[in-house]
Amino acid sequence: MWNQTRVFSVLGVAYPIVQGPLGGFSSQRLTAGVSNFGGLGGFGAHGMEPEAIRDVIAEIRSLTSKPFAMNLWISMEDEGARTSGEVEFQRAASAIAPHIERLGGPAPVFTPYRPIRFEDQARVVLDAKVPVFSFIYGIPPREILDEARRQKIVMMGTATTVDEAIALEHAGVDIVIASGFEAGGHRGSFLRSSEDSLTGTMSLVPQTVDAVSIPVVAAGGIADARGIAAAFALGAEGVQMGTVFLACEESGAHPVHREAICSGRATRTGLTRGFTGRLARGIRNELMDQMNRPGTEILPYPLQRSLMRNLAIPAQKAGNAELLALWAGQSANLARCADVHELLQALVDGAAARLNR
Ligand SMILES: Cc1cc2nc3c(=O)[nH]c(=O)nc-3n(C[C@H](O)[C@H](O)[C@H](O)COP(=O)(O)O)c2cc1C
Repeated sequence: MWNQTRVFSVLGVAYPIVQGPLGGFSSQRLTAGVSNFGGLGGFGAHGMEPEAIRDVIAEIRSLTSKPFAMNLWISMEDEGARTSGEVEFQRAASAIAPHIERLGGPAPVFTPYRPIRFEDQARVVLDAKVPVFSFIYGIPPREILDEARRQKIVMMGTATTVDEAIALEHAGVDIVIASGFEAGGHRGSFLRSSEDSLTGTMSLVPQTVDAVSIPVVAAGGIADARGIAAAFALGAEGVQMGTVFLACEESGAHPVHREAICSGRATRTGLTRGFTGRLARGIRNELMDQMNRPGTEILPYPLQRSLMRNLAIPAQKAGNAELLALWAGQSANLARCADVHELLQALVDGAAARLNR
């Protein structure tokens, strides 16, 4: 049976299909919906205060008794975030100020950076004894790994290169997510720069499978049963899909964002640091092209992310898809844009038809 891999047994799910955490765009309904179907729902909590994460976990638990994953970013800020001040803020804001003015939004106002600590977020996740703790942008400190292991929390770490996968295995992580550069959202590289870690799924998955003995989940560009079959043929024992879940009715994406994925025109994606300060993939639009122009001032992560919210709010209100960060992977155009049940039913039926032959 196609679904009976080590990922299926380690996670305790019916189908080795992981809903990729969608930091900033997750919803408790989506996470629980995937888990209730028999996949692994995930919730991206990286931008949240610890108390808010506690509430989210409680709400997911009220919606499902099945396993689910909470996801955090290990590295929460880039160099310069603590020293960058109002002068840098105003210089970076000048790139988007004319758009905001045209949309009738308030001018960006500088507020000093208030960091959220990964350790505080992880404390909540560990105390809540979530079934699965997934992470990106690094490896948690030893004490956190040890405690998760003691509490029998399954740990899934994300690798964008074979070396990162090996490092995750050495740290004692249970499952590695090999994420190719087709993936939507941020490129969570941690041993080299993201620009230096742009391996595609087709190359990354089989090399990772050869290099580690823990189960490998393939991510990046997988959008239908053909992609699942391909990932399994490369040696993956599960798949993580993000963009197709972002396009589901239950996701936390704004309707303008979902419409951009579902329009049939999401054929061109690109990478940019311009939306948050870290390299990430979204649909090419006017804003991405502008932010990628040489000479555009970009603040260190997460300051750029906070700055860009000043534009996102009026752009959403105006329904302007050219001035929004439209996160999506290279296979966005294959998204079904249905509800989560319909999507998962099509995926498992299609995977069984292709893989159980
Ligand atoms: C909007 C968006 C937000 C994401 N946020 C996170 C995140 O917070 N943590 C994480 O590990 N992966 C995150 N991802 C990556 C997905 O979980 C998943 O690995 C990826 O989308 C798979 O590639 P695909 O988009 O081609 O399906 C995000 C992806 C998107 C599109």
